[in-house]
Amino acid sequence: MKRESGHLAALPPRFLMRYVFHEDALAFVSSLPSESVELVLTDPPYYGIVKDSWDNQWRDVDAFVDWLFSVFTACRRILKPTSTLIFFGGIGKQKQRSLLRLIERMDSLYVYQNWITWGKRRAYGKKDDYLFTREEILWYTMSERFTFNIPLLAEKRGYAGFNPKYPAKSEYKRVTNVWTDIPELFRPARYCQKPEALIARLVETHSNPGDMVVDPFVGFGTTGIVAVKLNRYFAGCDMASDAELANQRVMEAKSNVQAIQVECGGDQGSDCPGDEATSDC
Ligand SMILES: C[S@@+](CC[C@H](N)C(=O)[O-])C[C@H]1O[C@@H](n2cnc3c(N)ncnc32)[C@H](O)[C@@H]1O
Repeated sequence: MKRESGHLAALPPRFLMRYVFHEDALAFVSSLPSESVELVLTDPPYYGIVKDSWDNQWRDVDAFVDWLFSVFTACRRILKPTSTLIFFGGIGKQKQRSLLRLIERMDSLYVYQNWITWGKRRAYGKKDDYLFTREEILWYTMSERFTFNIPLLAEKRGYAGFNPKYPAKSEYKRVTNVWTDIPELFRPARYCQKPEALIARLVETHSNPGDMVVDPFVGFGTTGIVAVKLNRYFAGCDMASDAELANQRVMEAKSNVQAIQVECGGDQGSDCPGDEATSDC
């Protein structure tokens, strides 16, 4: 991987030692330098959807929305004028609709770009209601200048090639804002663990190799694992004690990528966090 000038030099030394920190999201974001990140991609708590204590920390829905809004406010400082913020969310229970409340306030911070619905295979719910099988992905940017590497499906659409005048008519089918082609993990190691293919589509579409990706609610480490596999820099945190395990998982993914690069005769990527033997880390 070619070193992206500035990224590592701009980071405080602790970011050269590890990928995932066991700490609170707000403290973690505050410790990152201003305008140092191209993509914040994160899957924060949903508010009372999952039984785990991390999803039930707030006295009411207003307190939850205030808190998440404060995290996204803090993220603005670390993002560049051309950067992107993407987060997962559930619309929320009928009387709360936490996501809708948050979205109303997000316009004061970011430029809204799109709302992707991820349709999952497994459904749950009540007998007198439609079953729930969806999760939302909200895409925001800092301005109207941003990275968007057009994602395409493997299926052919039949047109000769991509024509910017007719953006829906491409050789391969374009990805819409309803995703049903990537199933959830049926036996996740941890609640809400996202499939790597889902995160990979977002990382590849909204960032470039050498970019800095940040996830302040990293869970089992999925965003970090995918980011390093795709030759992005990564930093993340989680308040759960298995943040250490997530860090190990990202470190391992990075080592595997380096091993493949060495085998293929590519750049060995000497800029890896955790590789203190090198002069820069
Ligand atoms: C939906 S899960 C993320 C799952 C992740 N996408 C994965 O693939 O494993 C949300 C995470 O936020 C973490 N969390 C909750 N409150 C936090 C806080 N204040 N600071 C940091 N992490 C927090 C939880 O511990 C949980 O791991």
